[in-house]
Amino acid sequence: MHGVRPFVLLSVAAALLGCDPGSVATSKSPPAKKSAAADDNADAGSVRIQSEPFGDTKEGVPITRYILANDRGMTVSIINYGAVVTSIEVPDREKKASNVVLGFPTLEGYLGKDPYFGCIVGRYANRIAKGKFKLNGKTYTLAINDGPNHMHGGLKSFSDAVWSARPTAPAADGKSAGVELMYESPDGEEGYPGMVKTTVIYTLTDANELRIDYRAVSDKPTIINLTSHIYWNLRGAGTRDVFDHVLTLNADKFLPVDATLIPTGEIRPVKGTAMDFTSPARIGARLSEVDGGGVKGYDHCYVLNPRTDPAKQAAARVEDPESGRILEIFTTEPGIQLYTGNQLTGKPEDGGFKQYTAFCLECQHFPDSPNRPEFPSTVLEPNKPYTQTTIHRFSVK
Ligand code: BGC
Repeated sequence: MHGVRPFVLLSVAAALLGCDPGSVATSKSPPAKKSAAADDNADAGSVRIQSEPFGDTKEGVPITRYILANDRGMTVSIINYGAVVTSIEVPDREKKASNVVLGFPTLEGYLGKDPYFGCIVGRYANRIAKGKFKLNGKTYTLAINDGPNHMHGGLKSFSDAVWSARPTAPAADGKSAGVELMYESPDGEEGYPGMVKTTVIYTLTDANELRIDYRAVSDKPTIINLTSHIYWNLRGAGTRDVFDHVLTLNADKFLPVDATLIPTGEIRPVKGTAMDFTSPARIGARLSEVDGGGVKGYDHCYVLNPRTDPAKQAAARVEDPESGRILEIFTTEPGIQLYTGNQLTGKPEDGGFKQYTAFCLECQHFPDSPNRPEFPSTVLEPNKPYTQTTIHRFSVK
């Protein structure tokens, strides 16, 4: 843990930003908006951060919710349990803001076995076959928590950890504000070697972008694959399925998987198949043709096409024709997992959200890379930090 007292730092940052950390807007009551147009720079204003208590863990640890808000009507709420993004309010083409991510209204939902709503997944997002991998001649055995495989970091993922948190230093131009979260994963956690210190910074800009910067360092050679597990519904969380959302992926190839969703090793072109999103296509158009591990739907890692400038060339673009909301994703990662909420049941542990009512676009390295030397490496060497930057940009049409 950081040893940083969030409220003290927040008060300092808030004073510098000219806001009162005690009196907060909640995600349900976004601050006054000047304009919802993401492309109207003339209307740019300051981005603010506030905080409020978000309940206690079962062990009595108080959890804080940080709320970032800009003058364009966008609000992002983040808690320091699991580094979860609990809500993102974004304006539609009529400038009406709605929450576009799945989550729970209170901490309790996140403390149970939830579907990884909005969290940071680690140490290894996605699957490792049979929970085994070899590193420098030694075989490591990880927790098995998904059929025969290891998934999303194991029984206690980064999503189940209390992170230390503090607002980032205020931006000089006031055009962004952020929260920095830190988690120290002990040597041997869930079977992984090395003590890993992970820092995640969420930044909201006045251009309606949510930027996520990751950094991780280890004291021993280990493996790492971090991702944000936000479930999106651009029409609004809880409205209906995402079949009409139009998706474009900057990916000519994907990784076919076996029945337990482990890549077979083949890298297959998408052209002419239900996997093809190289030109805009409705998510629901061919979803029933796709096997997502015994259930219909997408649950596959796409191999992103090489991008000379990942900050400018989108990896993914999603448009909801009804609300007009558009989400573009830019990332430094080599892959993106498209998951269409195939396993959502509508039960309380899934927040009441039904199958196909959201999609995830998880920027990450390929699943099972530690057992696939031909895939980009996920080895983390001491003194050679892991970094990732992923940007979610919103606009309307
Ligand atoms: C996986 C799915 C899984 C979901 C929730 C996704 O990242 O690819 O198979 O059901 O996370 O755990």
